[in-house]
Order: sequence, then C-alpha cells, then structure tokens
Amino acid sequence: MTIGLTPSWWSRQFRGLAVGAVVIFLGLITALVRRHQPATPAPQDEGDDDARLVIVHANPGYVGPIVCAECHAARVHEFQGTRHFRACWRPEDGPMPHVFDQTTTYVSRNPGVRFTIHRENGDYIQTLIRSSTAGERRETWRIDYIYGSGGRADEVYFTWKGDTLHELPIAWLGPQQCWGEQFYDPLDPGDFTRVTTVRCVECHFTWLGHVAGTENEYRRDGAILGVTCERCHGPGRDHVEHHRRHPHDRQPHAIVRPRQLSRERQMDLCAQCHSNALRARRSPFHYLPGEPLEDFYRMNLGDDRESDHVADQVKYLKRSRCYQHSEMTCTTCHNPHRPQDFSAVARACQKCHEPEHCRDRDRLPFGVRDQCVACHMPQYPRVAIKFHTADDQYVFPMRPHEHRIGIYPAARLETLWNHLRQSPVESEQHEADRLRQKLVDHWQAEARRFQSEYRFLSAIGAWREAWRFDPSPQTRQRLDEAIAIQARIDADLNAVQQALRVGRPRDAIPLLEGILSLKPNLARAHGRLGTLYASDGQMSRAVKHLETVTQCDPDDAYGQNMLGWMAYVRGDGATAIDAFRKADTIMPRTVEINYRWGLALLLLERWSEAEERLRFALEIDPNHPGCLQGLSQALRHLGRTDEAIELARRAVRLTRSQEPEMLLSLAEAYGDSNRVEEAIATAEKAKALAIWKSPAIIPVILRRLDEWRIDAARQTPR
Ligand code: HEC
Ligand code: HEC
Ligand code: HEC
Ligand code: HEC
Ligand code: HEC
Ligand code: HEC
Ligand code: HEC
Repeated sequence: MTIGLTPSWWSRQFRGLAVGAVVIFLGLITALVRRHQPATPAPQDEGDDDARLVIVHANPGYVGPIVCAECHAARVHEFQGTRHFRACWRPEDGPMPHVFDQTTTYVSRNPGVRFTIHRENGDYIQTLIRSSTAGERRETWRIDYIYGSGGRADEVYFTWKGDTLHELPIAWLGPQQCWGEQFYDPLDPGDFTRVTTVRCVECHFTWLGHVAGTENEYRRDGAILGVTCERCHGPGRDHVEHHRRHPHDRQPHAIVRPRQLSRERQMDLCAQCHSNALRARRSPFHYLPGEPLEDFYRMNLGDDRESDHVADQVKYLKRSRCYQHSEMTCTTCHNPHRPQDFSAVARACQKCHEPEHCRDRDRLPFGVRDQCVACHMPQYPRVAIKFHTADDQYVFPMRPHEHRIGIYPAARLETLWNHLRQSPVESEQHEADRLRQKLVDHWQAEARRFQSEYRFLSAIGAWREAWRFDPSPQTRQRLDEAIAIQARIDADLNAVQQALRVGRPRDAIPLLEGILSLKPNLARAHGRLGTLYASDGQMSRAVKHLETVTQCDPDDAYGQNMLGWMAYVRGDGATAIDAFRKADTIMPRTVEINYRWGLALLLLERWSEAEERLRFALEIDPNHPGCLQGLSQALRHLGRTDEAIELARRAVRLTRSQEPEMLLSLAEAYGDSNRVEEAIATAEKAKALAIWKSPAIIPVILRRLDEWRIDAARQTPR
C-alpha cells in the first residue's frame, strides 16, 4: 500500500519531520488570530499556475452603506461618525497622525534594525532598514489600510503586496503618543510584516473576498471597509432590490430586525466581534445575524486576560449580576447607530438603579458618588495587546472598561484617591497619601500573585499599575525584573525557531527546557519540545509533553494534532483518528488536521469516510496536493478510476512533477484503469526522482513496475 508513503512527501515538503513538523504545526497555531505574534510563513505554493484553482469566497449579498443611504439617508449619515464605520479606513479618508509630516526614524532595540516613517507624494510610507555585515537592506511599504479609529489606543497599518495583505511592524500608540514596534522575530530573515488572517479582516471589514486556502490573499474589488449596517442586519441585496421594486411597501423585507431576536441572538450580534469567538467553523463572512454564533465559530475557552484576543465584553458582561438578573443586552447602554456618547453610557445605570441602591453611597464624598463606572466598571490594562517602544518594553496601549459590572475595592480606592488628591485641605491630602500607599500595596501583591502563577504579562501589567501610584526607582526595578523574565522567554522562543530554521533541532531542546523552567505552563513550549523528543525517538517523554499542551491551553490543538500524527506514523490509525477528532474540536476547519485525519482513514481502508474528510479539506484549501493525492487513492479503491486519475494529475502538476509520491499515485491510478503504458512511464519518472528525494519508496516503485510489466506482457500478444 502506498499510503504509508505520504508522510515522507509531507515531511520533506517541510524539510524533515523534526523541523518540518514543528514549523508547520507552529504555523497552524500562530496563523490563527494571534494579533501580536508573528505568524510563521506558510510554504509557498510553487506549483503549475494552471493547476491552481483560485476560488474566491462568494459575496453573500453585501452591498455597503452607500446603498442603504438611498432610503435611510439620515441613519447612514449619523452612523458615519461612529468608530464602527472607521474600524478600517484608508489614508485618504484621513486624518492621519501629524507625526507623518516629517520623516521619523525609529531605532529598534534589535541590533541592526531601524524603521523610517514618512509621507511622500501623498502616500504614507513605512520603511524597514536592516543592516548587517553583508550591507543594508530596505523594504518600503505604502500604507493602504488603518485599523484603530479613536486615537484612544493603538493604530496599526496594512499594506498590499500584490494580492496579499500584510500588517506592518510599526504602529502609532495614541495614549503614549509615540511609535511602537510589534512583536516580530528579529532572527527571521523575512521582512517582519505579518500576514493578515481572515479573522482579523472579518472583525474590521464588512466584506472582503478571500481566496480559499490562502492565509492572506484577498480580492480588493468590492471590499467594504469598516463595520457597517449589514454586519448587524445581514446582507442587504435582497432587501434593497425588493424595496426598489416596491417603493410603497412599508413592511421591511429580507432584513434582520435585531429587536425581534431573542436576547441570546442579540448578544451574538455583538459577539461576532466583541468576544473570543475566534475559530471559524464555516467559510468567512457567512455568519447571518439571528443564527446561533456557536454554529459558525468556536468560542475560545482560555480564561485569563492573556488569552483575551479581544476585550470580550460579552463574556465579562454575562458574568455580572446586572446581566444575570435583568434582560440587559449591549444596546441597553450602547447605541449602535451613533457616535458613542460617554455620558449617556454612564447614565445607563439609572435605567435600573436608583443612586441610593449603592450601599457605599453614604460613605462617599459628594464629588465621587456619581462616578458609578469608575468604581463598578474600572479600566484595566489589556496585556494581550503589547508593543515595544523606543524606551520601554511590553507597553499596553489599551485600557478598556471591565464589563463584569461588580464591586472592585481597588477601583474604589483609586476613585477616592483621585478626588482627594485634588483637595486643598491638608487632612484630605494625608488621606490621599494613605490611599495611594494602599493602592501600591494592592498592585504589588497582585503582581507577585501573577508572578507566582507564571503569568508574567499580567505581572508586568500589575507592576505598571503600581508604578502609576509610585513612580519610584524601586518600583521601576521590580517592573523591569518582570519584563526581563518575559523578554527572556520571548528571546529564547525566537532562538528555538532559529535552531529549527538552520536545521539544528537538537539545540532547541535545552532552550525549551530552560523556557519551561521559567514558565512551566507554556503550552507552545511543551508542544515543540514534545515534537523534538518524538523525532529523537524519546517517545514517552514526547507523549507527556504533548498531552500537557491542552492542559496548559485548552485552545491549543498542537498536542493532539502531533499525538495523532505520531500514532499515524506508527500505523495506529484508530488512535490517530481519535486524536485528530480532538484536535478538530479545538481547531475546526483546519486543512492540515483534516488532511491527516483523512490519511488515517485511508490507512484503515475506510475509503468512503476518507473521501468525505478529504473533500472537506479540499473545500478549505482546493490546492492542497496531499489532499488531492489522498482523495485519488480513496477513489481508486472505490472504483472511480477516472476521477482518481484527474485528481492525481492535478497533484502532480501542482508539485511541478517534482514529487515522486505524487507521481507514484498517478501511476497507480493509471495502473488501476489498465493504462499500463502510462503507469510504467509515470512510475519511471517517480523512480528517477525518488533516488535522491525519497529512497524509501523505491522498493514499492520497483514492485509496482514489475506488476505492470507483467500485465503489459500479458496484454501484448507475443
Ligand atoms: C430602496 C429603498 C431601501 C434601501 C436601499 C434600503 N432599505 Fe431598508 N428599508 C426600506 C423600507 C421601505 C423599509 C420599511 C420601512 C421602514 O422601516 O423604514 C426598510 C426597513 C429597514 C429595516 C427595518 C427597520 C425596522 O423597523 O425594524 C432595516 C434594519 C433596514 N431597512 C436596513 C437597511 C440596510 C442595512 C440597507 C442597506 C443594505 C437598507 N435598509 C437599504 C427601504 C430601503
Ligand atoms: C474577533 C474580532 C476581532 C479580531 C479577530 C480582531 N479584532 Fe481588532 N478589534 C476588535 C474589537 C471588538 C475592537 C474594539 C476594541 C475593544 O473591544 O476594546 C478592536 C479594536 C482594534 C484596534 C483599535 C484599538 C482601539 O480600540 O482603538 C486595533 C488597532 C485592532 N483592533 C487591530 C486588530 C488587528 C491588527 C487584528 C488582526 C491581526 C485584529 N484587530 C483582529 C475585534 C477584533
Ligand atoms: C453594530 C450593529 C449595528 C450596526 C452597524 C447597525 N445597526 Fe441598525 N440596529 C442594530 C440593533 C441592535 C438594532 C435594534 C435597536 C435596539 O435594540 O434598540 C437596530 C435597529 C435598526 C433599525 C430599526 C429602527 C430602530 O432604531 O430600532 C434600522 C432602520 C436600522 N437599524 C438601520 C441601520 C442602518 C441603515 C445601519 C447602517 C447605517 C445600521 N442600522 C447599522 C444594530 C446595528
Ligand atoms: C463586525 C465586527 C463588529 C460587530 C458585529 C460589532 N462590533 Fe463593536 N466594534 C468593532 C470594532 C472593530 C471596534 C473598534 C473600532 C475602532 O475603534 O477602530 C468596535 C468598537 C465598538 C465600541 C467602541 C466605540 C466607541 O465609540 O467607543 C462599542 C461601544 C461597540 N463596538 C459596541 C458594539 C455593539 C453594542 C455591538 C452589537 C450591537 C457591536 N459593537 C458589534 C467590531 C464590531
Ligand atoms: C451597563 C452598561 C453597559 C453595557 C450593558 C455594556 N457596556 Fe460597553 N461600556 C459601558 C461603559 C460605561 C463604557 C465606557 C465608556 C467610556 O469610555 O466612558 C463602555 C465601553 C465599551 C467599549 C469601548 C472600550 C472600553 O471598554 O472602554 C466597547 C467596545 C464596549 N463597551 C462594548 C460593549 C459590548 C459589546 C457590550 C455587550 C456585550 C457592552 N459594551 C455592554 C457600559 C456598558
Ligand atoms: C438592565 C438593568 C440594569 C442596568 C442597566 C444596570 N444594572 Fe446593575 N444590577 C441590575 C440587577 C437586576 C442587579 C442585581 C440586583 C440583585 O441582585 O438584587 C444588579 C446588580 C448590580 C451590582 C451588584 C453587583 C454584585 O456583584 O454584587 C452593582 C455594583 C451594579 N449592579 C452596578 C451597576 C452599574 C454601575 C450600572 C451602570 C454602569 C448598572 N449596574 C447597570 C440591573 C442593572
Ligand atoms: C467610590 C466608589 C463607588 C461609586 C462611585 C459608586 N459605588 Fe456602588 N458600590 C461601591 C461599593 C464599594 C459597594 C459595595 C458596598 C458594600 O457592600 O458595602 C457598592 C455597591 C453597589 C451596589 C450593590 C448593592 C447591593 O445590594 O449589593 C449597587 C447596585 C451600586 N453600588 C450601584 C452604584 C451606582 C448606580 C452608582 C452611581 C450612581 C454607584 N454605585 C457609585 C462603590 C461605589
């Protein structure tokens, strides 16, 4: 059977199981919506261009807000002032930060790396300058899109390189009023830009055509920027057509009316983007308001601030007693059609509470009593969104409001401190000082607690809070110590990547063990270490680490994926399937998991199930040669040899006739349909390549060639 050969094709694609598996698996994990970690570049498809199917996901009927304005002009007009409308915008929509007016040079703390940011002929430009002993290398990018509209947090920039969309390394930090540097791997030979994943686009665009199977290839035509009407009311094409044709019909047709939805579905409307619903179960931009969101996305289970990829107001609001004991939704406090009116939002408490409900009220000075939000929905640093700046590291620009409405003793202290320290009365000044000290103690205790839980980013956040109240060298030193630990972990992770890149996987093992001694619950490190032990033949160690991955991070499928792969490689299809099923629960709609799951089904000769699985994988990535090859095999065994030949041929073309395994599969498909001459010719090509590419399959090729030659001899009358 040739199925066992597929792994060698697969692993060689990624340069040897040890390195390759790590690279591809990491690619899988990081390519997901990890905003501030660089994604590993996917291996480029270098196949025959004609064999590549370009399938752009169809627009389900989005027309854009300009069209709505035809009949809802006033509403569209007021909506244009919202941050939703500007969740993604172009430089020409302006205004850009004035700092673009002159050329700024940002010197990175990474040696030999600097950036310039400037304006040129009306374009806004970022340039990377990398200098080394080999000389200076420049990459220049024009800014095409911007995320971040309020100036209240970070503003990040995107550029098109051909049809692929990339996030640029330098961002503007509104609160700090300075440039910040994204997290990238300085050892990477690339240009430090990041691929813009589908999910990243889904939350900031109303519609953008995605090319199936690619990480970041899109079609600009028809793009609808920003979060506009139809993301909450559903695609409007049919609605518009109906009302244009029936101008007197006042009954709304084919449009979602959120007020008529159940409360859960109304929450889902906002949860599309304001929650950690990060893993897609369906193709992009296909969620329809009114449907259960869980059918379209898997909600991340990670439950600490470090794993909040977005602020996730939905999760936290649902945890408050206000939510649990009322019919409140997001629109109780936020009007989705108008620019945010902060005082109206703050007054929303009074829809349900009399000020006297506050049991603290009588103890509070008059000037503080009505600051309900400051005490019950305090701001916190969002540690998942982090930058380096010219003079600091791990800077968190965002301070969103806690949406679990509750009682926060430290927030009460801070609100009182803020009030009292402005008082001219000396006794109140003293009281303010006492409160300040209590706040410092509180945040120091928090920082130590986080540190003992190995949550260093949160610890840095807590030290930064302490530093706000006590900007002394001692506190800064504590802060710097926490920063040093996190920086060490990040640098060592980069060194691991580098060791794999240069083909020295053994060097990565002590690095990873070192990382785990600093942070024993780092899922990624367990995963990589497990793979390295596996490739070193230390199976029980490998299994232990790989099983730990999901225990440390319930949203990380790497461990199960790798355990499945190991089972498959040793020929245990049933165990493999079990593990792939688990991995798929965590990371649905992933081509690599479904591909391998399909291979395991082939191994067990469950041909129809394999067909179904691999067809699904091909729906995700229509140009995956391995899936085409696997499907070809399944169909051969199901007696559908013509289809099998077609698929195998496309796999061969996509790999430019350079992969012996693909050629062998094609030969087998020919063989099965009695096209013996073609089978022999193709197998000969496979043999020639296999000699230097995968000697392991040569015996199989030779055996097949013998069989076919006998067949050929029988067919040709002597
Ligand atoms: C050709 C005219 C026309 C266009 C264009 C149009 N609508 Fe409407 N829309 C109507 C009419 C007529 C109604 C029913 C009367 C009303 O509620 O104003 C309606 C109702 C609605 C309602 C329901 C209001 C309610 O009371 O619940 C929503 C939501 C809506 N439209 C959204 C949109 C969106 C979003 C777009 C753009 C994609 C759009 N409309 C484009 C004519 C139009
Ligand atoms: C699941 C939806 C989702 C994804 C995915 C997502 N964002 Fe956002 N983004 C949001 C929401 C919601 C906000 C509003 C901020 C908040 O909730 O605190 C936001 C805000 C922002 C802001 C502005 C900060 C501010 O509030 O001023 C930037 C910049 C940003 N996102 C960048 C990105 C980038 C870059 C990516 C992809 C790599 C990304 N986002 C992916 C939902 C998302
Ligand atoms: C962020 C989500 C969101 C966006 C964007 C949005 N809407 Fe709405 N819309 C809602 C919700 C939610 C309601 C129900 C209002 C409520 O519960 O008070 C609503 C209600 C409406 C209504 C019914 C009348 C009313 O006020 O209740 C119309 C008409 C409407 N929207 C049109 C539009 C148009 C046109 C746009 C774009 C300019 C738009 N909406 C953008 C969420 C949104
Ligand atoms: C398609 C994604 C998407 C949906 C759906 C969505 N939001 Fe947002 N929302 C965003 C993004 C992205 C931002 C940040 C925009 C920025 O600042 O650049 C944002 C910002 C906000 C803000 C901050 C705006 C401000 O002016 O301070 C509020 C409040 C908000 N959203 C509430 C809601 C509510 C309520 C709903 C549901 C009715 C909703 N959003 C639905 C993506 C979305
Ligand atoms: C009880 C009222 C209330 C409810 C309900 C509520 N919010 Fe908020 N929200 C606020 C307040 C208050 C602010 C802070 C406004 C300001 O900046 O002063 C805020 C701010 C925000 C912001 C801006 C970022 C930040 O945190 O400062 C976003 C985004 C947001 N809310 C989204 C949502 C979403 C999504 C929901 C539903 C899950 C929701 N809110 C429900 C009161 C509420
Ligand atoms: C839609 C109605 C509604 C709104 C709006 C609302 N609340 Fe509540 N809230 C409630 C209900 C109901 C309870 C539970 C009361 C009970 O348990 O008896 C509650 C409980 C609370 C509690 C006690 C929480 C705890 O964990 O013990 C606080 C504090 C609170 N609300 C503050 C606020 C503040 C501040 C706002 C405005 C930002 C607000 N609420 C907005 C309905 C609401
Ligand atoms: C300076 C901080 C502070 C401010 C400002 C404040 N609260 Fe409170 N609130 C508290 C504290 C602390 C408690 C808990 C008191 C206790 O349990 O003894 C509390 C309790 C509550 C409760 C829960 C009562 C219960 O039965 O458990 C509600 C509701 C509430 N506040 C609403 C409000 C509203 C509405 C406002 C604005 C008008 C407000 N608070 C302003 C600090 C504050």
